[in-house]
Formats: sequence, C-alpha cells, structure tokens
Amino acid sequence: MKPDEFIDYQALFSEIAIAVQTIDDIGAVASYIPELLEVDPNKFGIHLTTIDNQNYSFGDSNEKFSIQSISKVLALTLAFELEDENLWNRVGVEPSGTAFNSLVQLEYEKGIPRNPFINAGALVICDILVSRLKNPKHDFVEFVRMISANPNINYCSRIAESEKLTGFKNAALINLMKSYGNIENDIETVLDFYFNLCSLEMTCMELAHEFLFLAYGGVNPATDHKVVTAVRTKRINAIMQLCGFYDEAGEFSFKVGLPGKSGVGGGIIAIHPEKFSIAVWSPRLNKKGNSYKGMKVLEFITTRTKSSIF
Ligand code: DON
Repeated sequence: MKPDEFIDYQALFSEIAIAVQTIDDIGAVASYIPELLEVDPNKFGIHLTTIDNQNYSFGDSNEKFSIQSISKVLALTLAFELEDENLWNRVGVEPSGTAFNSLVQLEYEKGIPRNPFINAGALVICDILVSRLKNPKHDFVEFVRMISANPNINYCSRIAESEKLTGFKNAALINLMKSYGNIENDIETVLDFYFNLCSLEMTCMELAHEFLFLAYGGVNPATDHKVVTAVRTKRINAIMQLCGFYDEAGEFSFKVGLPGKSGVGGGIIAIHPEKFSIAVWSPRLNKKGNSYKGMKVLEFITTRTKSSIF
C-alpha cells in the first residue's frame, strides 16, 4: 500500500483482532497510583475515527478509563489559547530524554521544564490555567466537553484523591519550581487541579473523537467547532511527536511514526494529520510507563498500512 492509497480500515481491524492475541503482553499495571491497580490488566480497546467520520472499533473500546497524561495535551491546548508567548519562557519544547516524573534536569535548568508533557511542564501549564480561569476545574472540563460536544466526560474523584495521597514526586517537582519563581499560585491549589486533570476518564471512542481536531487543522470536523488555530495545531502535534512518550519518544517515532501521547492508565492517542485519530487502551505498561501492547498494536497498524507520517 502506498502512503496515499485507500486504506481498508474494516479489513485492518479484522487483522488487528488477530494480531492482538499474538502479542505476549509483558507489561505491568501502574502501581504508584493505588486506584489504577484496581483496573483489569487484560482490558484492550481500540477506536479509529477518520476526518470524514468513519469509525472502527475493537474490544473494550466503549469502557471508560483514566486518561492520565493524555489530558496534558488538552491542558496545553487551552493554555496556548489563553496565554501569550510568555508561555514559552516558562516551559520549553525540547525532548527531555528523562522519565516523566524526573527531578534531575529541573534543578540544572533552574526550574524551567523541558516541555509541557513531562510532569513538571504540565504543572506549569496547570499553574497558568489556575491563574487564567475563573473556576479552573469547572471551566477546564467544560472546555474538554466542548471540543467533542460530549457532556459525558468527567473527572474521577476517586483516582484524583488516590494520586493526591501518593503524589510526592509531583509535590517535589512543584516545590522545586516554586523555589525558582516558576509557579505563581498556591502549591496545593495547582496540585489539586493537576490531579483532577489527570483523572479525566474517556472511552477509546470518546478519546479518538476528542483529539480529531489535531488531525484537521484545529477544527473538529464532526461539529465544525474551531478549537485552536492551524499554527497552534502544528505546534501541538510537533510537541507530541518529540515529547509525547518522554524518554521513549524516539522509539515511538521510530516504530509507530505518528504524533502521540500516552498515559499511565494505559491509554495512547495518536494522530495522522489529514487522516485520522486513533485511541488504544491496554493497562499493562512497559518500563518507561507507556502501554506495552498499545505501542505494539500501533506499530502493527502504521507498518501494515504504511501510514506513518514519515
Ligand atoms: O503525575 C503522574 O504521575 C500521573 N498523574 C500522570 C503520569 C502519566 O500518565 C505518564 N504517562 N505515561
């Protein structure tokens, strides 16, 4: 199949159903957020939606799961709209090459996180949203719902509370940044917003629909709702490509070749600009904290259809 050739998604999904069973899933469910351990590790769901509204699903694609760090892309999208260029003085756009919750680089770089997707960077984005939004938790979830015209998207207070009890590394990151003057608001308020942000729940179908605007120049093709400008869309996709998988971003580009973002709930969203968005969920994670099977299946898809962006 050549890159622009017709892709028979129906046939592809029949192949995926078989391929999934042949993958030996050697990952482990995230344990540092106690509530995530309650999730059945054998769940597997996938949903692809095209910009012309074709939809293909397999497995547990209609079951809600914790999207965790995937929500950092939505937080960046809103901060990008609300904040001026000063945003980029407070957070960079370079790959970190370090784990998502690493403290090491942050001290060397005087409290300026490498990018908005490592935890430190997302905490700065949350600080900006807390400053800019009147009622941050309410306004943010309304923004998320509006993107895909879906009123059924919500936080999970159980998961947010669970992470609050064990989120010592995030507390360390934000305190370090506060000491360098890169956090404006009260630390507890920003952390509470961040834990709620990470607790957002979606199904694979909802997630694919939510992110379709990034495949269509910033406009949701299903509703014509303009979420962000085309220039910002290009930039958000670029940051996903370079930083969406932390110290495994190179591997994801190498094997899958799409802008994407993972979460420790086992979800991955990937975008093929001008074509589709695809969400996959499989809770067992590899050593870098990204879904083991999710990455394998996405590699299978872009290899089989020759539809990576490269
Ligand atoms: O802050 C944390 O550690 C989690 N709430 C989110 C981390 C995450 O999803 C990393 N992604 N693979």
